[in-house]
Amino acid sequence: MSSQISIAVVGSGYVGLVAAACFAEIGHKVTCVDNDESKVAMLQAGGVPIHEDYLPELLERHRGKNILFTSDLGRATREAQLVFIAVGTPQSRTGSADLSYVDAVASEIARSIDTYTVIVEKSTVPVYTNEWIRRVVERNGVAKDMFDVASNPEFLREGTAVVDFLHADRVVIGADSERAAALLQKVYEPLTSGEYFRSASAIPGTRTPEAAVPILQTSTKAAELIKHASNAFLAMKISFINVVANICEAVGADVQQVAQGMGTDTRIGPRFLSAGIGYGGSCFPKDVAAFRYVAEQLGLDFDLLAEVEKINAEQKKRFFQKIRSALWTFRGKRIGVLGLAFKGGTDDIRDSPALDIVRQLLHEGCTVAAYDPAAMERTAELLPASGQMSYVDDAYAAAQDADALLILTDWQEFAELDLARLHYTLRYPIVIDGRNLYSPAQMRQSGFTYLSVGRPDAYQMRDVRDTTANYPLP
Ligand code: UDX
Repeated sequence: MSSQISIAVVGSGYVGLVAAACFAEIGHKVTCVDNDESKVAMLQAGGVPIHEDYLPELLERHRGKNILFTSDLGRATREAQLVFIAVGTPQSRTGSADLSYVDAVASEIARSIDTYTVIVEKSTVPVYTNEWIRRVVERNGVAKDMFDVASNPEFLREGTAVVDFLHADRVVIGADSERAAALLQKVYEPLTSGEYFRSASAIPGTRTPEAAVPILQTSTKAAELIKHASNAFLAMKISFINVVANICEAVGADVQQVAQGMGTDTRIGPRFLSAGIGYGGSCFPKDVAAFRYVAEQLGLDFDLLAEVEKINAEQKKRFFQKIRSALWTFRGKRIGVLGLAFKGGTDDIRDSPALDIVRQLLHEGCTVAAYDPAAMERTAELLPASGQMSYVDDAYAAAQDADALLILTDWQEFAELDLARLHYTLRYPIVIDGRNLYSPAQMRQSGFTYLSVGRPDAYQMRDVRDTTANYPLP
């Protein structure tokens, strides 16, 4: 049996709460700290503030036993061998990561350290943040040998966060002392030894006792860079395929075939090559900007990332033009919208491309009927229901009498609609799909005008408005 370790996790957002629940699940004693007392009370009472598969089960399993919730960071620090910092690092006006929460938490932790403690960066932070945390802690009078700062970045995706954590591709441990590295290795031992996957109640996923989670030990700086570089690279992959999709539209090729052909090259890999309306969410936009800022501060040119951002912004505009090409005018039209979250499987609408498109539709004078399986409540806080904007109970209600139906989020249920029903529910059978959930041939056979991203049917519409009209046809 692996030994139980006392852990404090500061910040109970997506990363902190999932990490805390998963640490409890692999046998540790976890205190989850948040300065938002109403959130702490909600968690103590059995509430789950985010929509995440398996999270309610894990919290239920461990609440009051292996996991406690508090706003008392001092006490949690004194009782913990490791304190994970998982607070927000929002984007500041300059594009850099705003580290003021990390700074404040580091000072508070410092004031409570009374035995050797490892402070672990879990939030995505720029390289050198560990040095700053070290300085802040020392400034608060903590002796060098009483603490270490390590980096253990988290690669979980929203919606599949629990499985991503427990069945990780790898665990990265960035530490500059043997003592800190050894303690972090012990934390992950149930996953790296495969022991966890032997348990009958283990959350299912790809890992098994024989194929357990590999561990990668690096310097602290390298671990900080791994996280930023990974997210920037994935965002680049998406922007890359989005431009390829636009080329496909111009020449009448299918981007999914191109992506498949590219992705079967093991050097490229098939994932994150789905063309669409651009990436969003709480990580990619902010991390690309922050990583670019890091390079800039070091006097290095990383304009490649500026281009990635530009392409992403253009992709939304381009999709909007596609809607225009199908509808001609907007004012007074009724548009059904499927999907508000930045991707399927989550209720998160931060930097959601779907919301940008909805806002633009409202601005142009359309009436919008929107449906999302999880994100309507959050959206309604930003865009309250009104004569122009309504939230409805299912996809067919969104399509009811609509001049067109837009698919903006890749929820699985949007890929399984009853097409005959959809056809007679819509006022005009026009579906504009920003996530490529249907085959153009199937939609054509079902009687729809169907526009998607980077596939031949979109090409057929190109002469309606056109940046590509001058493409020299063979
Ligand atoms: C991302 C990283 O994947 C994760 O490792 C990191 O820890 C946090 O940031 P997340 O933001 O939850 O995770 O979502 P992800 O699944 O990566 O999708 C990000 C955005 O890219 C979404 O808007 C999604 O729709 C879009 N996307 C993703 C594409 O447009 N095409 C793709 O092929 C993949």
